[in-house]
Parts: sequence; C-alpha cells; structure tokens
Amino acid sequence: MPAMGSMSCKVAIVYHSAGGNTKALAEALASLLPAAGLYRTNEFDLCTLPDYDALIVGTYTWGNGELPAKSAALYKELEQLPIAHLKTGVFGTGETNYNHFCGAVDHFRDMLFAKSQLLVTLKIEQMYQESDLPRLQKFASLFQN
Ligand SMILES: Cc1cc2nc3c(=O)[nH]c(=O)nc-3n(C[C@H](O)[C@H](O)[C@H](O)COP(=O)(O)O)c2cc1C
Repeated sequence: MPAMGSMSCKVAIVYHSAGGNTKALAEALASLLPAAGLYRTNEFDLCTLPDYDALIVGTYTWGNGELPAKSAALYKELEQLPIAHLKTGVFGTGETNYNHFCGAVDHFRDMLFAKSQLLVTLKIEQMYQESDLPRLQKFASLFQN
C-alpha cells in the first residue's frame, strides 16, 4: 500500500443499476479497489473529474442494445467534458439472449476510446458469479497504481 500523501491513482466508479445486477458487479469491483470511490450516476459530481486519474463507468443495457436514461445522461455530459487525462474502463451486465449483448458498454467504449485513455471493458451475464472473478481481478489490476 502506498504511504499517505504519496502518489496513487485516484479512481471513481460510477454506475447505474435498476435491478441490482450492475450494482453487485460495481460493489465487487469496489472491493478489489478499496481506495476507489463508489457512486451511483446521480450521486457523482462531474465537476470533480479534474481531481481524478481514472473513471470507471458501469451500466446495464436497455431497449435494443441502448443506454438506460440515467446512463445516457452521464454519457452526454462526459462527451462534453475535457477527459483526455483520465484512464477509463467500462463494465456492464446484460443478457446474451438479446441481439446486442451489453450494447450500452459498446456505446461508452466507443466514446471513451475517442475522448480518454480507455484501458478495458467487461461484460457480464446478469448477476456476477464467482467464476467471473478472474476477469474482474484483471480489470481492477489496471487501476491499482
Ligand atoms: C426491457 C429490457 C430490455 C433489455 N435489453 C437488453 C439488451 O438489449 N441487451 C442486453 O444485453 N441486455 C438487455 N436487457 C437485460 C438487462 O440489461 C440485464 O438484465 C441487466 O443485468 C440488468 O441490470 P440491473 O440489474 O443492474 O438493472 C434488457 C432488459 C429489459 C428488462
């Protein structure tokens, strides 16, 4: 662990979940990144982004591979903000029986790839399982220093 006051990566995890699947995944990720802040989309103050080194966005998918409204609002705001300094990651839950599995993750991926330093994306089938842990650990490891 870095000593207090030393340089370490300041990370915000910002997610939207309706039924709890994406919330559970966000919490599992937060437990692997104990120094990160965990926020629902409507709790996070985007004005504080200049203070961060990394932003991790979590969302479920709605409609036909689309962003749910609260995630869409976050997307639109991020699109307008100067975020080139941020390392970013995107995770989401969805269901593989829809045509566009985790389509909302793809939308954020494309925008964050263009606007920030996108490191990684992760798509999980509904409720996060023990067997997903290696992929989640690999995701988290990219934001650990
Ligand atoms: C009306 C409706 C539309 C959905 N559309 C998609 C979709 O296009 N792609 C997908 O992967 N999942 C889709 N899903 C599945 C949800 O994204 C999935 O259940 C997710 O885990 C819910 O996350 P939450 O529990 O965090 O709200 C849809 C679910 C509903 C109810």
